[in-house]
Amino acid sequence: TGITATRSFDALIAADQRIEPRDEMPDAYRAGLVRQIAQHAHSEIIGMQPEGAWISRAPSLRRKAILLAKVQDEAGHGLYLYAAAETLGVSRDELEGLLLTGRQKYSSIFNYPTLTWADIGVIGWLVDGAAIVNQVPLCRCSYGPYARAMIRICKEESFHQRQGYELLHTLAHGSPAQREMAQDAVDRWWYPSLAMFGPPDGESTHSAQSMKWGVKRFSNDELRQRFVDMCVPQAEVLGLTLPDPDLRWSEERGHHDFTPPDFDELMRVVKGDGPCNAQRMAHRRAAHDNGSWVREAAAAHAAK
Ligand code: 3HC
Repeated sequence: TGITATRSFDALIAADQRIEPRDEMPDAYRAGLVRQIAQHAHSEIIGMQPEGAWISRAPSLRRKAILLAKVQDEAGHGLYLYAAAETLGVSRDELEGLLLTGRQKYSSIFNYPTLTWADIGVIGWLVDGAAIVNQVPLCRCSYGPYARAMIRICKEESFHQRQGYELLHTLAHGSPAQREMAQDAVDRWWYPSLAMFGPPDGESTHSAQSMKWGVKRFSNDELRQRFVDMCVPQAEVLGLTLPDPDLRWSEERGHHDFTPPDFDELMRVVKGDGPCNAQRMAHRRAAHDNGSWVREAAAAHAAK
């Protein structure tokens, strides 16, 4: 009965156990997971655009091969995540439709332009670095298929982060022009990377419920702080400066004090008013339309 099923859901969550697709679950738990997993998947797919623009411009065959592998990985992450969302009873087509009609979103970070080759290094170091900080806890998320998808994704993200960090280290220890290009990229991507973690805890609509249900394990601000603390020593090794004059170690807090990102800008970008939102969505729609013949052929083949 509904009562027994709900008790077992509550009992599983209370015992920090995994919820599997066949388990009874509250509609709001299901809907919240579809929302988060779908938007995570959309982020992976849209995230291929900023980096994809540089595959044909990579400065060496080695860098091109690494970037190709990374962008292909992101497509794979999208597929794992759409597959995880499908276990909740939604179809990939439906989720695609929600993205294309603007009723579902993707991460704000991909609405910023990649202006130079150094941006590819900074995306690996900061954006994939932030993704790791946010996604490692998701490996312990209460919903089984999502947590299991995260384990492989996190392994691949570590490669993404290392290749970006190594690329930046090469530039930062190269010619003055290369060093300057690396510093300029850090200056442009630092605050948007901090904003990736979401609004401040006090303005987060989903955190309280998401944490009660063991989906979100740490709050937006906790993970943002963890990310800042991780980046400071890495920037020192790179010999690059994080663009925050108020960034400093606080002995009593045991963390770095830092200037928060512009949350009004985050909300504007989330609502569609970022530098590249229109371009990203136009590209996504064109890719969807250009791919319709593949979907029709696959459907015709399946019907045979
Ligand atoms: N970009 C876009 N929307 C954002 C956002 C961001 N950076 N941060 C928050 N939001 C949205 C939320 O989706 C929510 O809107 P909605 O109700 O329409 O979905 C609203 O702002 C309020 O934020 P909340 O804090 O209440 O929302 P969440 O509890 O969902 O927390 C989150 C936001 C931390 C991003 C969480 O959804 C999450 O952990 N998602 C999974 C990780 C993810 O999606 N990462 C995307 C990064 S890209 C990536 O990993 C690819 C890698 O290869 C670089």
